[in-house]
Amino acid sequence: MMPLNRREFLRLAATGLCALPLGIQARIVYAGDRIELVLQAEQSNWLGDQYHPIDLWGMDQKVLRLKQNQAVEIVVKNELPEATSLHWHGLRIENAMDGVSGLTQRAINPGEEFVYRFTPQDAGTFWAHTHHNTYQQLARGLYIPMIVEESSPVSVDQDHLLVLDDWRLNKGGQLDLESLGNMHEWSHGGRMGNVLTINRQFQPRIQVSAGTRVRLRILNAANSRVMAVELPETSAWILAKDGQPLKVPVVLQGSLILAPAERYDLIVDIPAEWKGEVPIYEVSTEQRFAGAYWYVSASNALIGRSPPTRLPSNPMPQLSKKKPSQSIQLKMEGGAMGGLRKAVYQTQSMEVRELIQHKQIWALNGVANLPDKPLLSAKTGDLIEIEIINNTRWPHGMHLHGHHFQADSARYIEGLWHDTLLMEQGEKTVISFQAEEPGKWLLHCHMIEHQAAGMVTWFEVTT
Ligand code: C2O
Ligand code: CU
Repeated sequence: MMPLNRREFLRLAATGLCALPLGIQARIVYAGDRIELVLQAEQSNWLGDQYHPIDLWGMDQKVLRLKQNQAVEIVVKNELPEATSLHWHGLRIENAMDGVSGLTQRAINPGEEFVYRFTPQDAGTFWAHTHHNTYQQLARGLYIPMIVEESSPVSVDQDHLLVLDDWRLNKGGQLDLESLGNMHEWSHGGRMGNVLTINRQFQPRIQVSAGTRVRLRILNAANSRVMAVELPETSAWILAKDGQPLKVPVVLQGSLILAPAERYDLIVDIPAEWKGEVPIYEVSTEQRFAGAYWYVSASNALIGRSPPTRLPSNPMPQLSKKKPSQSIQLKMEGGAMGGLRKAVYQTQSMEVRELIQHKQIWALNGVANLPDKPLLSAKTGDLIEIEIINNTRWPHGMHLHGHHFQADSARYIEGLWHDTLLMEQGEKTVISFQAEEPGKWLLHCHMIEHQAAGMVTWFEVTT
């Protein structure tokens, strides 16, 4: 069955456009000390009211707001029909709270709850998402954006989120679950959707006042699609990447590219003369697509703003002061047209045909999926260097759990901290980080089908 393409979807959706929802009406929960988060089925009506609502998975809240340096207890209740776990992507917390089922915890069974306890040390934009059968559960929508507020408030007129996601609907207008696990897609760019939503709405209106300054937090929550966001005719600066502030805000030029799981915090000045609807484009495909609209109301505009000031920095290590304790290479191999011949899977060497029978097609240093021994073993405080070599024909978004790293990649502004890094085919990058919390940490591709099909490894930190 051919999925709907975007154009067909637009045609369908056009009939229901009059009923478009207004901007995100988030139920915001402040973290005193205890938050309850219910994982549950939900429904959406992107296609308009005349269609049957679409069955998704989600949570009973739309945004999690935590406070920097304030301990929190998040009681996660699983009311879904399957086991799951929640990973706090980008938070540098204790390993036992990292939420990786089978590695850092047992999965939370249906009807059970699990209490995550941690103290976020970094303020910024993060997200929590399933880390169990992720390629299925993330495609169904099991994630939530997470904002950690600075301990001293940062002044902006408004604070908005743009959470981009890419869903695959079938002809019946429901999530195309039959295509989950399609090996052809796993060996190519991963699972691409045919409907783009922002904040889990189709072409939402983001309400702003003309002449004001907006902090815009952008997250790519797609399984595999690299997104590109264009904000025409605004002045915008990059404030932070993956939750970590830049030393000096940098003017955004052209479109902002985000691999799955990457985040950017921007300052956007809404022009004083704007009113009504102004599109925000997603431009990763040939078609420029209005993913959302600013919905601008007139105000007594403030014109002629100065560039924004930087965000207060998070407590990051000083990498330059150290000598690396270990420098290793990580070779990415496999995928379509990658020429992979064999790899080790669950300690056995296998030819490609056999790997595919196990739904494996990507390898890191010759091993598909988690190796029995860690990629490396480090002590807390050690400086680690990994040269990552993308020997495949595909882009990958590499994510390091529990740590932020720096990279010598030319595609990014210099000096950024990342927890996720886009690497195009043929690219090489050295990442460096300081080993922090003891435990077992993952390093994997966040094109989730690639992770499922082998592009994942782990390393160990001991005290
Ligand atoms: Cu955002 Cu291992 O994941
Ligand atoms: Cu990948």
